[in-house]
Amino acid sequence: MQGSPSKKMSTAQKRIAIRIVSSGIAEIQSNVTFPRSRSDYIIAKTKAFALNAADNHQIDVLGGSGSIIGCDWSGVVLEVGENVTEFKPGDYVYGLCHGGNSIEPEDGAFADIVTSKESLTMHKPEFLSFQEAASLGVGLATIGQALYWVMNLPLPFPKIPVNSGPTLLIYGGSSLTGTIAIQLAKLLPDCFERVNEIGASITYIVDCIGSEESSIFCSKVLSPTGGHYHSIKAPLPKVFKESRPEKTAVATTAFAYSMTGERFEFPGMEFAADVAQGQFAKKWRDIAEDLVAKRKVQPHPILAREGGLHGVLDGLNEIRNQAPRGHKIVYSRDS
Ligand SMILES: NC(=O)c1ccc[n+]([C@@H]2O[C@H](COP(=O)([O-])OP(=O)(O)OC[C@H]3O[C@@H](n4cnc5c(N)ncnc54)[C@H](OP(=O)(O)O)[C@@H]3O)[C@@H](O)[C@H]2O)c1
Repeated sequence: MQGSPSKKMSTAQKRIAIRIVSSGIAEIQSNVTFPRSRSDYIIAKTKAFALNAADNHQIDVLGGSGSIIGCDWSGVVLEVGENVTEFKPGDYVYGLCHGGNSIEPEDGAFADIVTSKESLTMHKPEFLSFQEAASLGVGLATIGQALYWVMNLPLPFPKIPVNSGPTLLIYGGSSLTGTIAIQLAKLLPDCFERVNEIGASITYIVDCIGSEESSIFCSKVLSPTGGHYHSIKAPLPKVFKESRPEKTAVATTAFAYSMTGERFEFPGMEFAADVAQGQFAKKWRDIAEDLVAKRKVQPHPILAREGGLHGVLDGLNEIRNQAPRGHKIVYSRDS
C-alpha cells in the first residue's frame, strides 16, 4: 500500500517525542533532533503506537536519560537509508523500534517522526488499520526470535520436514505474544503432534508470562528426559532452574531488542552485537510480513484510542496498575 511520496526532510527540522528525563519520569518534548540518516534504517512519519509493559520498564529502569521510549508503531515512510531495498518513501509500514536505547537515544517509537531498522519494519496490508498494524511489531519479533532463532524450530516457509514428533506448549495464550505464538505454532510442520491436553510429553515451551507460577507449571509438564523452556520475560524465573537443572532442560530468555543485531546496554548489563541474529531478523521480516499479508497471523484485539502522544503517557500510567484483559491499547497520533 502506498501513500504520496514526501520530500526529503531537512535535518534542521525538529520533532516531537516522549523522552526519559530521569529514572521513572518521561515527558513530551517538542524540540527533539531529527533522526540522522543510517544506511539500513528508514525514517517515517508515525500514524499509531501500541503500548507495552516494556515502555514503562524503559522509563523506570532500562532506558537512558534523553532516550526516546516506545517500541510498537506504524506510519508512512519518508526517507530510506542507502542500503535499504524493501521500502521507498510513501510506503505504509509498521514495526519495532528499540525504545529507551541508551546507545542510540533517537531510536524510540513514541515520536511524530521515527527511525526504524529495515529488518524490523514491515509493509502494512491494506486490510489492516494503522492502529491494528501498530500492535504487531513487538509480538512478531519476540515470538519469531523465540521459536525460530532461540529454539531453532522450522520456519513456516519453506516447510522443512522434521522426523521426530516434538510438541510445543504456549503458556499465557491470552497475552498478545501468546496469541501470535499460537498462530505461528499452528504453521509448524504436521509432524508436530497437536495436543490439546497436558499429559503428553512436552518438548518445547514458550512461556509468555514468565512468572513463578507459570514457570513451576512449565517445569512439571516439560518432558522429564529433556526439552527447551523459553521465557519471554527476563530474567528467567529462578524456580524453573531449581526444579529443572541444566542437564534435564534447556532454559532460555531473550530480549527482542537483540533482533537489531546491534550492541545495547541496560544499567549494569551489556549485550554484544549479534550479527547472525540481525541477519536472521531480516529473513524473519520477509516471512512475518507475508504471514500477516496472507492473514495467517492476525492482530490481537486492540483498544483504539485518540489523544496522540499525550494519550500515550496516560495509557502508560494506566497499564502500570492494570493492563486491559485480552487487549492491546493503541493510540493514533494527532495529525
Ligand atoms: N522478551 C521480550 O523482548 C518481550 C517482548 C514483549 C513482551 N515481553 C514480556 O512478555 C510478557 C507478556 O507480554 P504481552 O505484551 O504479551 O502481554 P499482554 O498482552 O499485556 O498480556 C498480558 C495478558 O496475559 C494474561 N496473564 C497475565 N498474567 C497471567 C498469568 N499469571 N497466567 C496466565 N495468563 C496471564 C492476562 O490475560 P487475562 O486478562 O486473560 O488473564 C493479560 O491480559 C510481559 O511480561 C512482557 O514484558 C517480553
